[in-house]
Amino acid sequence: MIGRICGTGSYVPEKIVSNDDLAKIVDTSDEWISERTGVRRRHIAGQDTVVSMAAKAAGRALENAGISPEEVDLILLATSTSNVIFPSAACSVQKEIGAVNAGGLDVSAACTGFLSVYQMGQAYIQAGMARTVLLIGAECLSRLVNWEDRGTCILFGDGAGAAVLQADASASCLQTALHSDGAKGWTLTCDSRHKEGAKDLSKDLSTYIRMDGKEVFKFAVTKVPEAVREVLKKAELSVDDISWFLLHQANIRIIESVAKRLRLGMERFPSNMEEYGNTSAASIPILLDEMNRSGKLERGQKLVMSGFGAGLTWGACVFEW
Ligand code: ACO
Repeated sequence: MIGRICGTGSYVPEKIVSNDDLAKIVDTSDEWISERTGVRRRHIAGQDTVVSMAAKAAGRALENAGISPEEVDLILLATSTSNVIFPSAACSVQKEIGAVNAGGLDVSAACTGFLSVYQMGQAYIQAGMARTVLLIGAECLSRLVNWEDRGTCILFGDGAGAAVLQADASASCLQTALHSDGAKGWTLTCDSRHKEGAKDLSKDLSTYIRMDGKEVFKFAVTKVPEAVREVLKKAELSVDDISWFLLHQANIRIIESVAKRLRLGMERFPSNMEEYGNTSAASIPILLDEMNRSGKLERGQKLVMSGFGAGLTWGACVFEW
């Protein structure tokens, strides 16, 4: 038996920072940012944390699924930006939402995080070790951004998305691929925020996100189409069988390039980075929730999900809605 997503939810902080707002603090412009990235605004956490955002998204997903918190067997939370090392964000969410029967753990796979927890959730269900799994991607990247670096601060935003995955005898389509390349890890890094002996962390640039944008771009536009083709081949499907391609929302030019390499138009590649920026592990589930709530998803449609990011990590999966 495999799982089927039976509910989704999301949450983004109220505070919005526009490209024009950023142009007041670094040497940039709305035109440059929107042309190069597709981002116009991002939501930035004030009082919100990974846990508070994740709990709100999770509560909405459970409500959408019509499932009580007590029914959840396992919470898998993808994040790289929790503000404490332990307890895990998943355990704090478990307390917040009253999922008294659930185990919980965090998964660190950067922007491939939601894809990773989806695959893990499916594996637990397939193995008969869980029936109802709450999948969450939640990030507070504004904590790790150097707001003086125009090369990175324009890209990211905060938020959370969640989905309830439940064992479903009628679900049949599932193929997955997950890859990593630690040798290229240097292209996208953020060192520990808790360096021993460091007196003033704000002066140590390695504690912020650092990125070789061009390398990351090349990596994404090469590896994502490969991973999509890999799962479609395993599933004996073609791109024409897929209703929607839900890609990590890093940059509109990456999505355009992936669509082109798969010889497809952009109609089946939804995007929302204009409103949220790159929310890392939260980007796919926020998009999934928007698609679900706006009625764009129909039972039986085949969807492809693909994540890619720091590690380097990347992968894809094809499944039936
Ligand atoms: N505003 C204005 N000018 C800028 C800005 C800015 N915010 N940032 C850089 N520039 C300047 C540079 O200084 C450079 O100026 P120069 O020509 O005088 O030297 C010029 O613009 C071009 O800079 P590049 O870094 O070459 O710009 P590029 O076209 O590569 O775009 C970008 C940068 C948008 C980051 C691009 O490399 C990219 O999209 N990379 C993908 C990385 C990504 O999406 N990462 C997200 C996190 S990882 C993930 O989610 C997978």
